[in-house]
Amino acid sequence: MARTLSMPQARGEIARDIQTAAEPTLVAQAAEFAEAVLDGLARKQRSIPSRFLYDEAGSALFEEITKLDEYYPTRTEIVLLRAFGREIAARVGPVETLVEFGSGSSRKTRLLIEALDGLKTYVPIDVSETFLAEAAEGLEADFAHLSVRPVVGDFTKTRDLNGTDAHRPLGFFSGSTIGNLTHDEAEGFLRNAAQLLGEGSTFLIGVDLQKDLDILLPAYDDARGVTASFSLNLLTRVNRELDGDFNTERFAHRALYNAEAGRIEIYLESLLDQTVHVCGQRFGFAKGERIHTENSHKYTIEGFQNLARRGGWEPMQVWTDDADLFCLHLLRRA
Ligand SMILES: C[S@@+](CC[C@H](N)C(=O)[O-])C[C@H]1O[C@@H](n2cnc3c(N)ncnc32)[C@H](O)[C@@H]1O
Repeated sequence: MARTLSMPQARGEIARDIQTAAEPTLVAQAAEFAEAVLDGLARKQRSIPSRFLYDEAGSALFEEITKLDEYYPTRTEIVLLRAFGREIAARVGPVETLVEFGSGSSRKTRLLIEALDGLKTYVPIDVSETFLAEAAEGLEADFAHLSVRPVVGDFTKTRDLNGTDAHRPLGFFSGSTIGNLTHDEAEGFLRNAAQLLGEGSTFLIGVDLQKDLDILLPAYDDARGVTASFSLNLLTRVNRELDGDFNTERFAHRALYNAEAGRIEIYLESLLDQTVHVCGQRFGFAKGERIHTENSHKYTIEGFQNLARRGGWEPMQVWTDDADLFCLHLLRRA
């Protein structure tokens, strides 16, 4: 379910009005979370969709992750945007509207906005409402020429751009967030994005590359335990929002590489036999039993280009760093 914030609403000064106006939608969001958790915990392989990791605390913890030594994706993508921003802008050509999927803090977007001459409108889409509002406010303050039109909602289901009449927009999907989707989900996402962005659009997507496990695994299980806190915060969110009684000390963060699927899989593992309640329902966990919370697929350049073609996009150009850690794919709508 998507909901739009006009800029005055995005500003903290009338936050009370956002809450009042949004009440029915917030109820719907709570119901969606409850349904996803109850359904996911009842499955044989227990699971909770990764988008629920990003409440306010989760988004703040993700920002901390992006600054860790072990977490190479953010700094590498920033290096690529700094080095090739102008070249990317030249390949894209004149563009007035930038649409970002899973924008988070919009930190990297600033580099793209600076490189794109003549940009008038920025539409960030994210489930994390507080982060979205703060990022939107900061961008409007720093880029006076830019109209920011945030959309709160699930980017796999977004059907309109907050009333923006976008002509040949540029889409942006950074952070290898596309890797959180399975191949089928990613194809569906790309098809929906092609429909949403329309004819003549281009799409810049940051994608993590396949690499040695001694680089990959620490990025998802850092020495300071920030990634573990990010995972475990999901249980804290369930406790707060769904009347749960998870004891976070009785679960551990696990990051494993599934070589066959070419992806990191994140789980919360029960450290003992225990019973947990959520929304009045009882769930028994055996020692070692896991809740799947996230995937992070790793691609080859060719593998991603094939996926893009299946999703209705034609590869234009790829930029990678010297160590082949990460890449930026520029696509045009087929
Ligand atoms: C891995 S972070 C990347 C953030 C930012 N793009 C970056 O590169 O640093 C994923 C972002 O996507 C958002 N997100 C995750 N799943 C989403 C979904 N299904 N719909 C909308 N936003 C989502 C999260 O709230 C978060 O801001």
